[in-house]
Amino acid sequence: MTTATASATEAKRVEVSDLDIYYGSFHAVKSVTMTIQPNKVTAIIGSSGCGKSTFLRSLNRMHELVEGARVEGSVILDGQDIYAADVDSVMVRRQVGMVFQNPNPFPTMSIGDNVAAGLRLNSRKAKKDELDEIVERSLRGANLWEEVKERLDRPGSSLSGGQQQRLCIARAIAVQPEVLLMDEPCSALDPVATLAIEDLIGDLKNNYTIVIVTHNMQQAARASDFTAFFNLENSGDPGQLVELDRTDTIFSNPENKATEDYVSGRFG
Ligand SMILES: Nc1ncnc2c1ncn2[C@@H]1O[C@H](COP(=O)(O)OP(=O)(O)OP(=O)(O)O)[C@@H](O)[C@H]1O
Ligand SMILES: [Mg+2]
Repeated sequence: MTTATASATEAKRVEVSDLDIYYGSFHAVKSVTMTIQPNKVTAIIGSSGCGKSTFLRSLNRMHELVEGARVEGSVILDGQDIYAADVDSVMVRRQVGMVFQNPNPFPTMSIGDNVAAGLRLNSRKAKKDELDEIVERSLRGANLWEEVKERLDRPGSSLSGGQQQRLCIARAIAVQPEVLLMDEPCSALDPVATLAIEDLIGDLKNNYTIVIVTHNMQQAARASDFTAFFNLENSGDPGQLVELDRTDTIFSNPENKATEDYVSGRFG
């Protein structure tokens, strides 16, 4: 098999228990317990400042890169607490990849080198042919190969915004993570590029566990299997998980009044 996904590792379940997230003394997210299902897309929705990005970054230990930031509780990936004392945060970030709001390819680096960047940083001693193969497989996986195969040596910045975001997705999947986190990956894109990324997310879930933060209700409804609604009661309060359910339930028949108000556009 030569598809992008042939040698991807198995998607993994993530169990979050009693997770509290802090920036210094500021309690940003309170007591989240949720299961993130493998081979599904879980959308995280909620008003600005309720802690969606903070929560997402706690799932691959990027949160702790902020000075004074810390978490309490556990995040179990494939049976292992990623916050256990003997777990290397760099390995966690390899298992749990991340795609950001604004496409951030290395601008002067070539398209091909952008995809291979994570492999080199992880100092895997890959030979040239092996690298070429991974680059092609990852670009195919990100639905970008046909558009760039003749110009792999051009800089990453020579691509359109939507192509750059797919390049970032290719870079993220090149290291064969088990989980892919995406923080508003389409917010800088036009509707056509947005639909291309949503289609891609639908393909990627065959191989990965995907968590996507979005402000776009239609996107959550179209692209996700499960939706988690986060909210904060008053400004300055920590954000909390209000409700997590199948996406169609969250949008048609949520349990919680605050969820209903939010998805029907009554606030937030
Ligand atoms: N680096 C940081 N240092 C201190 N506080 C932070 C930091 N980043 C975020 N916060 C605070 O944590 C809270 C949650 O922020 P976060 O960025 O997670 O919200 P969000 O739900 O992603 O919002 P948005 O929808 O606007 O992206 C906010 O009160 C924010 O001000
Ligand atoms: Mg955010």
